[in-house]
Amino acid sequence: MDDTITPRPRPCWVAGRPEQGASTLVVTHPFDGSEVATVSVPGPEQVERAVAAAAAVAPAWRVAPAYRRADALEHVSRGLAARADELAEVITAESGKPLRWAEVEVRRAVSVFRVAAEETRADDGVLQRLDTDSAGEGRLALVRRVPRGPVLGIAPFNFPLNLVAHKVAPALAVGAPIVVKPAPRTPLSALVLGELLAEAGLPEGAFSVLPLGNAETEALVSDERLPVVSFTGSVPVGWRIADAVPRKHVVLELGGNAAAVVLADWPDLDGAAERVATFGTYQAGQSCIAVQRVIVERAIADEFVPKLAGAVRAQPAGDPYDTATSVGPVVDEAAAERIVAWVEEAVAGGARLLAGGGREGTTVAPTLLADVPVSARVWAEEVFGPVLAVAVVDSADEAFAAVNASAYGLQAGVFTRDMELAFRAAAELEVGGVILGDVPSYRADQMPYGGVKGSGRGREGVPAAMRDLTEEKVTVLTGVVP
Ligand code: SIN
Repeated sequence: MDDTITPRPRPCWVAGRPEQGASTLVVTHPFDGSEVATVSVPGPEQVERAVAAAAAVAPAWRVAPAYRRADALEHVSRGLAARADELAEVITAESGKPLRWAEVEVRRAVSVFRVAAEETRADDGVLQRLDTDSAGEGRLALVRRVPRGPVLGIAPFNFPLNLVAHKVAPALAVGAPIVVKPAPRTPLSALVLGELLAEAGLPEGAFSVLPLGNAETEALVSDERLPVVSFTGSVPVGWRIADAVPRKHVVLELGGNAAAVVLADWPDLDGAAERVATFGTYQAGQSCIAVQRVIVERAIADEFVPKLAGAVRAQPAGDPYDTATSVGPVVDEAAAERIVAWVEEAVAGGARLLAGGGREGTTVAPTLLADVPVSARVWAEEVFGPVLAVAVVDSADEAFAAVNASAYGLQAGVFTRDMELAFRAAAELEVGGVILGDVPSYRADQMPYGGVKGSGRGREGVPAAMRDLTEEKVTVLTGVVP
């Protein structure tokens, strides 16, 4: 065997075709820094071709028959299922996400494309009668949704397959071409998705996958041929994009400091402690809806907090390829350093460390803090690490006020069986989603998902995203009997 042959960089996808790029980027495994793959980075001419092709195909793709769009989406769903083991390994390799969570992510992506196919077939439009006033006599309106135009989808590193799927599937479902920019640290899953899209019978230009750096992405954000920008990622970058292009339709799925509230009536404190510990630390806390703030009613605090500390300490951390591991590495050394610095800052401000606190390389120990000052960053900002902070309050009222005393509002979880409190939580909490009887980290891919306040605007979740990527267009019929 000739070991002088180096593998070619993984191709990027330009207007639906695999191409070698103008330069390369190296993807490394966050757990040990080993090299995973080299990826083609497209040059300006390739980016231009991808955008021009998206704009060119848009008029034809928006009127493509529903069965063609649905068939393509079903093909991708089946392809993802057939390659599930390979894809889970790719996700783990590039992101360090433990294999067990990577497998969940692949299953979710299968369902995202399946739901998108179902929704494509179900999309009928509505009839509206106009003869409710004499001026509308003999008239009838047909109201349908049409794409706002080609989409630029910018995806983050923490769900390198499924959050790309949440950009691509709804866009293709509504007949909008999409140019995807995966996170530079984790482009591999998106490139494999490109292989499935390329065999799905899509017209040239319907999709491109461009692993670009941030500078090149800025030019895409301001390109008028891409009137919709769907961004998932950090809070400052998201709002900068929205401010930079006020005339575009910008969807922002940003971060948060999600709270789990445990009220005194909850009967199973062991179960709640286990759920909160698992979903405060899963995939190293790198989920926008990982539990960060735990707000517990005083009547059960003496019993609950030690259970929670035990459950946090017991979370299996380490090698992400070990199927027992739940808490893998964070994305890089700089992130690990920042997270531990935030923990130390809280402790210096008077917080008590009940579990963890340190790190080994990029693996941050599952950590629990108590008595955290509300100004500490582990409470007030998004940690994006396996760190929880617990606060004790005197009542449900105080708990709900504490949830709302945040610049963010993505999801909240409330452990209660009290119907009245549950309905009050649903009404009063300033978040995009309230999960009753569980952690805020619960997400089904067909439900609306998105935040209020600093956590973003617009909604994902396949049907909601399909609405968000489209606008109503009305056809008025004249001289008809409604
Ligand atoms: C996110 O981090 O915003 C996505 C969470 C999820 O899809 O479970």
